[in-house]
Amino acid sequence: MIKGVILAGGLGSRLYPLTKVTNKHLLPVYDRPMIFYPLEKLVKAGIKDIMVITGGTSSGDFLRLLENGKDFGLEHLTYAYQEGEKGIAHALALAEHFAAGEKIVVILGDNILEKGISEEVEIFRKQEKGARILLKEVNNPERFGVAEMKEDRIVKIIEKPLTPPSKYAVIGVYMYDSQVFDFIRTLKPSSRGELEITDVNNRYIEKGEMTYGILDGWWTDAGTFDSLLRANILVSKQKASK
Ligand code: G1P
Repeated sequence: MIKGVILAGGLGSRLYPLTKVTNKHLLPVYDRPMIFYPLEKLVKAGIKDIMVITGGTSSGDFLRLLENGKDFGLEHLTYAYQEGEKGIAHALALAEHFAAGEKIVVILGDNILEKGISEEVEIFRKQEKGARILLKEVNNPERFGVAEMKEDRIVKIIEKPLTPPSKYAVIGVYMYDSQVFDFIRTLKPSSRGELEITDVNNRYIEKGEMTYGILDGWWTDAGTFDSLLRANILVSKQKASK
């Protein structure tokens, strides 16, 4: 059974002082705390076994907010605490025991998507091994991990490139088999002092075991003032149109 992992650690330094006394993923996006959105995406894709990895400020508040996941139709939630802010891949390493050899769908706690991910998860369920990522064409690729393409193949992902090789950002939804934890063990910190998820993805690409989908519908992260505002506006418009 595929399991889910939500990464909700970090200092949220790009949102300071909003994050001085609380965790970024507890901040509001329109009418709900940010972390509700990625959690709901996993549940709607049929994933029932979910780990929330927090860290930094106010990590205990996640328990009070999400409890055992009953409001989301879950029987239980699993939590882990990341010591220090050493990156997305470093946080993900904490899920190894929880994953117990199963495939995982990882979602960054500040990624908000218009549509569901069920179809993509279904494709990955059938994928024999390796990883799958989702790409979205954006106007500001330099803010993200960007896919360098050769025809319809990803040859490499470059983290926050000064001159982006394409307009395809790698969004914060990653599907991995259990090799991911071996790859994380081989990583070295990047120039920002973190273990980068992009380096993990490049390991899969080098092995020829990475597939990808192009995301349908809007997507945004919410880790900067502008993207947080955008997330609020997109969600409010979506609610109004229903
Ligand atoms: C992270 C990843 C980046 C990805 C982005 C998606 O960036 O490193 O590759 O495109 O999430 O939200 P960060 O938000 O840590 O700068």
